[in-house]
Amino acid sequence: MTDYIIALDQGTTSSRAIIFDKKGSIISVGQKEHEQIMPRAGWVEHDPIEIRDNMREVIGIALGRANLTRHDIAAIGITNQRETAVVWDKNTGIPVYNAIVWQDTRTQPIVNRLAGDKGVERYKDIVGLPLATYFSGTKIVWILENVEGAREKAEAGDLIFGTTDTWVLWNLTGGPSGGIHATDVTNASHTLFMDLETLEWRADILADFGVPRSMMPEIRSSSEVYGEARDTSLLRETPVAGILGDQQAAAFGQAAFDAGESKNTYGTGNFLIFQTGTEIVRSENGLLTTIGYKLGDGPTHYALEGSIAVTGSLIQWLRDQLGIIATAPEVEKLALSVEDNGGVYFVPAFSGLYAPYWRPDARGAIVGLTRYANRGHLSRAALEATAFQTREVLDAVNADSGVDLAELKVDGGMIANDTLMQFQADILGVPVVRPVIAETTALGAAYAAGLAVGFWNDLDELRANWQEDKRWTPNDDAPERERQLRLWKKAVTKSMDWVDDDVR
Ligand SMILES: Nc1ncnc2c1ncn2[C@@H]1O[C@H](COP(=O)(O)OP(=O)(O)OP(=O)(O)O)[C@@H](O)[C@H]1O
Ligand SMILES: [Mg+2]
Repeated sequence: MTDYIIALDQGTTSSRAIIFDKKGSIISVGQKEHEQIMPRAGWVEHDPIEIRDNMREVIGIALGRANLTRHDIAAIGITNQRETAVVWDKNTGIPVYNAIVWQDTRTQPIVNRLAGDKGVERYKDIVGLPLATYFSGTKIVWILENVEGAREKAEAGDLIFGTTDTWVLWNLTGGPSGGIHATDVTNASHTLFMDLETLEWRADILADFGVPRSMMPEIRSSSEVYGEARDTSLLRETPVAGILGDQQAAAFGQAAFDAGESKNTYGTGNFLIFQTGTEIVRSENGLLTTIGYKLGDGPTHYALEGSIAVTGSLIQWLRDQLGIIATAPEVEKLALSVEDNGGVYFVPAFSGLYAPYWRPDARGAIVGLTRYANRGHLSRAALEATAFQTREVLDAVNADSGVDLAELKVDGGMIANDTLMQFQADILGVPVVRPVIAETTALGAAYAAGLAVGFWNDLDELRANWQEDKRWTPNDDAPERERQLRLWKKAVTKSMDWVDDDVR
């Protein structure tokens, strides 16, 4: 009996395979971290072969832990870190370079060149995005221009590009022998190349970037049968039936389907998705216009997105680079060892600032330091930075939509931190709500796959799976909220204007 769906979550820090039942409950998980390769300041890479092999392994772990086989699995859903770019030889399956990760800022000179006199918003009406290092398109250009022989091979039609959903799908469905080279509309919407209205690659933008059309995957919906896993996979003959970029997947997993519904995910970075229904809403306040989801032949659902580059990764930085904590959860204890932030504000503009500022010239800044400040204050400031950045994104959403959000649905690794979630509610002035199944990213991909094969019948069935687990209610100290926010905004100004010709 095919009583389960398996979701493959190819994330920034790890790859996971999660098996769900009809209620959306987790049956088993396989998870493996991969190396974060940082060859120099601003560069972040992953080894695609390591990711491919980890994905195979975690599928085995998830099946093994649940004592299930492929015969129990109705369909496979894929979700992924969205803008991370892989370019590989379609004849051999070997990447020509490491995956260039979304946080990587090496393509800033390419962005500047493409912006020219027209500015970074030159394609915004078509693709919903400003030109920025964040998106995958600029990373393809870097590989074509910097890897020896890549341009020639690409022009000859031998190289293909994919974000990691495409990399996983292609390998799962046959690789060099017939692998399916496709992506879904949500991933395509973060390349800088897809027209939001037609859902097709724009030949003119590809030409401006110098990217051959033959490199690009086919754009498909988020929920349909793309093909079957190949004969050598543990999941052989199982249909791959859903793909959603991780943030859109989390919104789907939160059952935020309709216009006005939203979620905020606290992972490596923070990403707020606000569904706008079948209408394309252009942001006036620094948000991206993107695709929410598209189910088979159904209508395209659009969304506004507030992307924050650094939130959970700042906690990893405290752990790995400063060594003041041994594990991420320890940050809470350290933060609670002091009464307040001691006047310290930490602006983690490690990749410049994303929403709502979009300032590539910003870099990380810790301000307000005095002789009094200690590790506790620094930890506190690091946690508070997540909440302040979220507040600024929520303000942008409220301004763009014209309605104030009444509460915030949250998910992701950082929501385990009670102190952060309470502070978040306090700084927003609205309640923060966590669902019972907090693995919403994988769940969303499972939902997309399950809908395509009739495992679930409609969105109402999925809505019924959503249950509230915990709610953090804000305090009513509005003056303190405003005081802190003002100081935060002042700190943000101190991080700007840092990168100039002398900064490498
Ligand atoms: N108790 C905690 N307090 C603060 N931050 C935490 C805590 N536990 C985990 N984190 C942070 O949460 C992040 C992991 O969350 P999650 O697994 O949702 O990340 P992710 O972005 O989905 O990862 P991936 O990119 O691999 O998908 C890490 O950056 C970690 O530092
Ligand atoms: Mg994730």
